[in-house]
Amino acid sequence: MTVLEIRDLHVTVETDAGTTPILNGVTLTVRTGETHAIMGPNGSGKSTLAYTIAGHPKYTVTSGSITLDGEDVLEMSVDERARAGLFLAMQYPVEIPGVTVTNFLRTAKTAIDGEAPAIRTWTKDVKASMKNLRIDPKFAQRNVNEGFSGGEKKRHEILQLELLKPQIAVLDETDSGLDVDALKIVSEGVNRAKEETDLGVLLITHYTRILRYIRPDFVHVMVNGRIAEEGGPELAERLEEEGYDRFIGDETPVDA
Ligand SMILES: Nc1ncnc2c1ncn2[C@@H]1O[C@H](COP(=O)(O)OP(=O)(O)O)[C@@H](O)[C@H]1O
Ligand SMILES: [Mg+2]
Repeated sequence: MTVLEIRDLHVTVETDAGTTPILNGVTLTVRTGETHAIMGPNGSGKSTLAYTIAGHPKYTVTSGSITLDGEDVLEMSVDERARAGLFLAMQYPVEIPGVTVTNFLRTAKTAIDGEAPAIRTWTKDVKASMKNLRIDPKFAQRNVNEGFSGGEKKRHEILQLELLKPQIAVLDETDSGLDVDALKIVSEGVNRAKEETDLGVLLITHYTRILRYIRPDFVHVMVNGRIAEEGGPELAERLEEEGYDRFIGDETPVDA
């Protein structure tokens, strides 16, 4: 079993207005086999948490810790984190001009496993995963995310998840911009990864819709860079009905 432990995490970011605190003491434990949903209003710090776990250089950890099986994640480079079994599906996946999907996947797999995958099985695995995710085989030769629709980008993120087989995956708003069919396909992909590899999932979502397809064991509500409330799946149902109003003060800008 693998355990991702986040303890009293404080994170700042540099803005035009100076150093701004975004996370103000986040504590969270995710084990393999568990699915945690992080919900919360826009701007509460959910993506900041995801980027901090992944090692994005814009975010500075001022105190607290992140460990994976006791190893200090904050001391690891971005690629060491990936090799240690962490995976991030970004809210806004980036385009990589000049790099085809095929090359990207093989390079990532090689980097993470420390050796190139055996060609025969690898090609078969890629084809099978693309088929499962209803990704047109032609996408293999396209540049990563270049001209992809929102839904295609999200399916490509899950393709990476299925092939790279991490221990713990952070999925940031993987449901955003998906129609119901695409949402089902993406959710099935996540559920397959959970079954096949006992994946631990940190599922970040503003809306409860995806939780109908990917059932969370735990639900955490993030407000102003802190976990304001925690519970089981019933908490998500309550949020579905009530929204985030009871967590939000009048001073909080609502941009959604
Ligand atoms: N790179 C950044 N530069 C400036 N401000 C940022 C940056 N990243 C996040 N923030 C600010 O931090 C707050 C939390 O953002 P974010 O983590 O994206 O929230 P969420 O994902 O919950 O919507 C917002 O007020 C946002 O403007
Ligand atoms: Mg976000």
